[in-house]
Amino acid sequence: MVTITYVEPDGTERTVDVAEGRSVMEGAVSNGIRGIVAECGGACSCATCHAYINAEWLDAVGPAEGDEADMIEFALDPRPNSRLTCQIEVHSGLEGLRLEIPAEQA
Ligand code: FES
Repeated sequence: MVTITYVEPDGTERTVDVAEGRSVMEGAVSNGIRGIVAECGGACSCATCHAYINAEWLDAVGPAEGDEADMIEFALDPRPNSRLTCQIEVHSGLEGLRLEIPAEQA
């Protein structure tokens, strides 16, 4: 299990354990994290699993590329540290990952 801290839109911090091999989005949905809608179920076609990666984790998580980068353009208020959480696979190198969920999803 990997510990991830999600900062919900109202600033509430939720730290939960997510199984390796799952996506960061699945970890949010299965733990009832508010603000991750995930309308498309992880198919990289809705941008409602958008989140901002904490600066210290940007290198470990890596940038959005390809279809994900295209979809982020449809998210509300995209930023350089934006990722679609359904496209981030949880692994041991992400132990302690922290991300913030935007106030609104596309
Ligand atoms: S869940 Fe739809 S793009 Fe991530």
